[in-house]
Amino acid sequence: MIKNKKILLGITGSIAAYKAAILVRMLVKSGAEVRVVMTPDAKNFVTPLTLSTLSKNPVLVDYFNPENGSWNNHVELGTWADLMVIAPCTAQTIHKMAHGVCDNLLTAVYLSARCPVLVAPAMDHEMYHHVVTQTNIKLLKKNGCGIISPGYGSLASGIEGDGRMAEPEEIFLKIDTFFPTTPFSGKKILITAGPTFEPIDPVRYIGNHSSGKMGYALAEEAVKRGMEVYLVSGPVALNPPAGVDHFTKVQTAVEMYDACMEIFPKVDIAVFAAAVADFKPKTTYSEKFKKDGQEFLSIELEKNPDILAACGAIKNHQWVIGFALETENEEYHALQKKKNKNADWIVLNSLKIPGSGFGTDTNQIVIFDENDRAHPFSLKSKRELAFDIFELLQNKFTDKQENKK
Ligand code: PMT
Repeated sequence: MIKNKKILLGITGSIAAYKAAILVRMLVKSGAEVRVVMTPDAKNFVTPLTLSTLSKNPVLVDYFNPENGSWNNHVELGTWADLMVIAPCTAQTIHKMAHGVCDNLLTAVYLSARCPVLVAPAMDHEMYHHVVTQTNIKLLKKNGCGIISPGYGSLASGIEGDGRMAEPEEIFLKIDTFFPTTPFSGKKILITAGPTFEPIDPVRYIGNHSSGKMGYALAEEAVKRGMEVYLVSGPVALNPPAGVDHFTKVQTAVEMYDACMEIFPKVDIAVFAAAVADFKPKTTYSEKFKKDGQEFLSIELEKNPDILAACGAIKNHQWVIGFALETENEEYHALQKKKNKNADWIVLNSLKIPGSGFGTDTNQIVIFDENDRAHPFSLKSKRELAFDIFELLQNKFTDKQENKK
């Protein structure tokens, strides 16, 4: 499952370099983010322009960019990637990698990489079978690199033999199988996040302290698990996580309701982490409200639609997860909300626990499952909790799928 994966493609100076362009196109088409590092020799076989156009990212060759004096940070590249693939990889680069020689950007990135590395050798038959090359390949394997064996065929030297780089389709398949599919792969999820702002007049509103961090962490985790993510967000200061497929920004509860009602029938899972205003001003003044001559001001409020309850009422195949933010009698109120809104799970967080609830990077939650069984989690980052929620959901979801069989 390649979608949303970060692939760093290293290209070295071999005639097979032109095939790397086909590989880049296949990876990008499958939703991967691709960055390319080339050795200076590789530029003789395929142009950086072709690869940057196909990858939609600048191609890196040297440590320095003489035009603007910028520095290509090999450590950043090495830590950015989920997988580094070197295709084609010449005998020379294999040798350098095996012995820690670091004399160009590509080999420096290799030494800095924290991710797994796949190598697709490409060379002449005799070079491939030379004892030095074979020893180097064994060393690379010992050091943890995966080798995509070359095939037999006509070679640049004119002879037939081993050493022909695996075809781009085969390399693509190796990359694809490298990333295992999860029970969520291809599933669709709706996540609500952040507050809603209910306008009183053009300058004032009724809102709350939700920062969107919990909902955005869930969206990020859903992307990692290969889901198609619909994120509906109230006004927050965060950028939507990379890889979110459908992002809808709203202000009010009614706007959030409208967006969710359109999306909900399409999804398999819906998580309601937004702090939706229960009430909104009955009247929104079109001009700024004047305080002159007024000692008191009453604003009449009317109920907003309850998005979770509306989705809970029409759900059929969807797995519906609500959040409950409580300040007293927490468990009782959370379970009441779960029942009244027809949610499958409710995630309780309490404003009474320091470091929990609104605005913080951390949270402490208890998940009440479909049998009202409590799954408590310690105080930890919202990102870690998003991981925990999907881990638990993964078991349930796998069970659910299996029960259907
Ligand atoms: O955004 P952060 O700063 O990271 O904070 C995270 C959070 C505290 C906002 C989040 O973890 C959380 O608890 N979200 C739900 C807050 C809330 O409104 O709880 P509630 O108990 O009032 O609502 C219960 C559920 O009904 C929630 O899933 C809520 O999204 C939903 N709801 C409520 C009212 C409404 N009109 N429509 C809804 O869908």
